[in-house]
Amino acid sequence: MAFEASKPVTAIYPGSFDPVTNGHLDLIARGATIFEKLVVAVAHNLDKDPLFHVKERVDMLEAVVYNWKNVEVDVFEGLLMDYARAKNATVVLRGIRAVSDYEYELQMAMMNRKIEPQIETVFMMPAIQYSYLSSKLVKELARLGGPVKGLVPPLVEEKLRAKVS
Ligand code: PNS
Repeated sequence: MAFEASKPVTAIYPGSFDPVTNGHLDLIARGATIFEKLVVAVAHNLDKDPLFHVKERVDMLEAVVYNWKNVEVDVFEGLLMDYARAKNATVVLRGIRAVSDYEYELQMAMMNRKIEPQIETVFMMPAIQYSYLSSKLVKELARLGGPVKGLVPPLVEEKLRAKVS
């Protein structure tokens, strides 16, 4: 029986990354070992009111992923599936921290599959110590003067402090 050699896979890891946390980095590290190329795609047109401008979010990401040669940071606008097609990606990577994430992620994955059946969503779990971590909570901690050390890269910690002071 002949097996077709598997093709190199480009995966998109989309998100707000407002800001990038150590949980995101954990997922990037895992994704970068599985996929030939991983594009960390920062969403531009969010309804949310981001703390960091998209350029600041991209700059922080670029500074913390430079070690991974197969990881690229980019910005996208509009439909994720249109962007993924334009990047020749066949996988969308999303993190699932707890059961509570699942419902929203399932809904999004199914909608994306309806739009583009050729692109698969792959879920990965971050390390257990990041299972409670979110950009939202990190921002709240920073605003209230709480400790964010160990939750975000040192560079992000600095930017957060500057932003909320
Ligand atoms: O980090 P987030 O905020 O959970 O990321 C959500 C994101 C940006 C991945 C999602 O909102 C998205 O894909 N937006 C692009 C618009 C789109 O394609 N919508 C239809 C998908 S259901």
